Amino acid sequence: MVEPLVDGHGRRISDLRVSVTDRCNFRCQYCMPTEGLPWLERGEILSFEEIERVVRLMVGMGVTDVRLTGGEPLVRREFTRLVAMLAGVEGLADLALTTNGFLLERDADALVAAGIDRVNVSIDSLQRDRFFQMTRRDSLPQVLRGLEAVARHPEVHPIKVNAVAMRGFTEAEAVPFAEFARSTAFQVRFIEFMPLDGDRSWRPDDVLTGDELRATIHAVHPLEEVPRERSATARIFRFRDGRGEMGFINPVSEPFCDDCNRIRLTAEGKLRTCLFSVGETDLREPLRAGAGDDELRHIVRDAVWRKELKHRVSEPGFRPPPRTMSAIGG
Ligand code: 5AD
Ligand code: SF4
Repeated sequence: MVEPLVDGHGRRISDLRVSVTDRCNFRCQYCMPTEGLPWLERGEILSFEEIERVVRLMVGMGVTDVRLTGGEPLVRREFTRLVAMLAGVEGLADLALTTNGFLLERDADALVAAGIDRVNVSIDSLQRDRFFQMTRRDSLPQVLRGLEAVARHPEVHPIKVNAVAMRGFTEAEAVPFAEFARSTAFQVRFIEFMPLDGDRSWRPDDVLTGDELRATIHAVHPLEEVPRERSATARIFRFRDGRGEMGFINPVSEPFCDDCNRIRLTAEGKLRTCLFSVGETDLREPLRAGAGDDELRHIVRDAVWRKELKHRVSEPGFRPPPRTMSAIGG
């Protein structure tokens, strides 16, 4: 292996998130405006071959975990073919998927056959009308069928359910999700609402913190913390009576930038070293201009070296990045 990928703050990069499309069939309030966004054109997005090349190169530099995201990854044509291509990359330890679940019932078997290791499904409410309110799609039953379709494959585990925590909405979801976690094998995690929404309406007060949710759950079903692994973004708490656990991802109230080991590749081939990066590094142009592996590695290494020390969401003067979540990849 060539020298590992490290940034200028001594963090070793081992996790790559790849957005395969900026399009989505949902319009979640915390992510996209109702009317959608101007989509990239076909020729602008990386081909499967281009994605595979970047992944292979980065795995050679010490990336062990790849997560495929969007937009909604399953709306990309022949997505399972990409999964099969990446599953064949030698040295890749973990190939995961983040999806809204709408097309999982259709695709679960093919994804597993192609070699997906783990799946995260975004579900913000377990009540149909509230799910509709948040995602602007009346699709909770369809998503739950998708979740079940993956759960039929015991080799895919853990299966995680992610809920974005927004004040004024998610308070009522705390206990129902705790009960869901206690009665199923799914790992439920709350993610604090970050300023990456399409409507640009995020305000600090809109963040329902992990601590608040944990306290609400604790009052009904007592929890105790499980020691955190390094680079884990979630704080894990187990139910004291032994019936499962829950995760809290608190990027706003408790930033975990010190341990960040991630970089991101957007659908059109920009390398981003932070969710909140203002600048990014284009890989598509060199890829299409015939750059060799050494040249690409150099570009990647240089960009990673300049990875941001931390995000500044809670500092005065913070400005959200020009891209919203769907155009970055969650
Ligand atoms: N804040 C926090 N999480 C978000 N996601 C999308 N937008 C936001 C946001 N503004 C989450 C989705 C999904 C993943 C892709 O990112 O719920 O789990
Ligand atoms: Fe689509 Fe995911 Fe954004 Fe919701 S959060 S609009 S499912 S990309």
